Amino acid sequence: MVSENFKVTPWEVEGEVDYGKLIEEFGINVIDTKLLERIKKHTGGELHPYLERGIFFAHRDLDKLLDAYEKGEKFYIYTGRGPSQDMHLGHLLPFVFVKWLQDKFGCEVWIQISDDEKFLFKEKTIDQIKKQAEIDILNILAVGFDSEKTIIVSDFKHISVMYETACEIAKKLNFSNVKATFGFNNKTNIGAIFYPAVQMVLAVLPSKIYKKNILCLIPYGIDQDPYFRLQRDINEKMGFYKPVCLAGVFLPGLQGPTGKMSSSDSSSAIFLDDTPEEVANKIKKYAFSGGQPTIEEHRIKGGNPDIDTCFQYLKLFFEPDNAKLQEIYNNYKSGKMLTSELKIYTIKKINDFLEKFRQQREAIQPRVNEFLYSEEKINKNRKIYET
Ligand code: TYM
Repeated sequence: MVSENFKVTPWEVEGEVDYGKLIEEFGINVIDTKLLERIKKHTGGELHPYLERGIFFAHRDLDKLLDAYEKGEKFYIYTGRGPSQDMHLGHLLPFVFVKWLQDKFGCEVWIQISDDEKFLFKEKTIDQIKKQAEIDILNILAVGFDSEKTIIVSDFKHISVMYETACEIAKKLNFSNVKATFGFNNKTNIGAIFYPAVQMVLAVLPSKIYKKNILCLIPYGIDQDPYFRLQRDINEKMGFYKPVCLAGVFLPGLQGPTGKMSSSDSSSAIFLDDTPEEVANKIKKYAFSGGQPTIEEHRIKGGNPDIDTCFQYLKLFFEPDNAKLQEIYNNYKSGKMLTSELKIYTIKKINDFLEKFRQQREAIQPRVNEFLYSEEKINKNRKIYET
């Protein structure tokens, strides 16, 4: 979507994102409290902060998914990552959420590594992309997925399993369908024009492989919405359920409350391999502050947590404790907490998270192969859907 003040496509997010406008334009529904209560019934009364705080905020057919689940139907989750540059905290957000969903609903998770996409859209060589893919797979697995129920599909490596279905999908899309949706033009290379069909494959492939119509839930940052909006009708035409969409907001970049953290601007992003000093420096130097220009003024007028990057990071990622978050909100707003104190608190939270994350990454490194697509894995997992 391109509007006067912002732009959101799968490849570019610029300006101040207006989520209300996106909801209208994309024709997606807000997740309401009724739906949240229904989810809670299946998660032992627990709601992930991403749902409770409206971070995963919009959906298509989540109610239908719950109807089916309540009748005993299984579903799987599909999400993905395009390995072009180092991963930042924002990239991790959907994966952290998917792991929670997997724990709560016990479902299979399919993760696409769209290495072909990044080769076709970015100025990178195949070798560079493949190297990045290896690093990214490790980062994703460090989140803690269940090795038996998680399948990683790399487009370059596993295209033979996907190609027939990609062609079936591509035949149902003509250039004028995709041109406006993805912003293609006459200069777009033809690989890029075909690529959307590849990203759509995994919303139907498990149903074909397991020979059963299985509901697919796709969590993603809202920039990926165009694929799945188009996909829904295609799935139906192919005789399968429409995929269920679950869209999330962007973790903002350091400089502003409404943009997107982006790897192409290193002063906007905290990367998974930033050192504790780099994290501290970036937050101190770049994190947009909702505080007043002087301490005296801040004490009198208070700060604005709703536009403060550090507070947003705590809300979106690093402070799961609601009572603590509320306390910080109140103290910052009243002027009791200073910007420097909020920054120090946030730096510690991020560095603690990254330290633990890197330990988990080291631990999972020898086990990567257990997660990669293989026929053996498929034959084992077939039983999930047999009942
Ligand atoms: P990629 O690699 O750009 O991003 C991976 C996932 O992270 C989301 N994301 C963010 N979420 C919150 N805050 C941010 N600042 C932020 N930046 C990125 C993206 O929306 C995405 O969900 N084409 C895809 C890879 C892919 C995929 C999929 C994604 C292939 N199949 C199925 C979702 C579902 C891509 O390049 O994502």
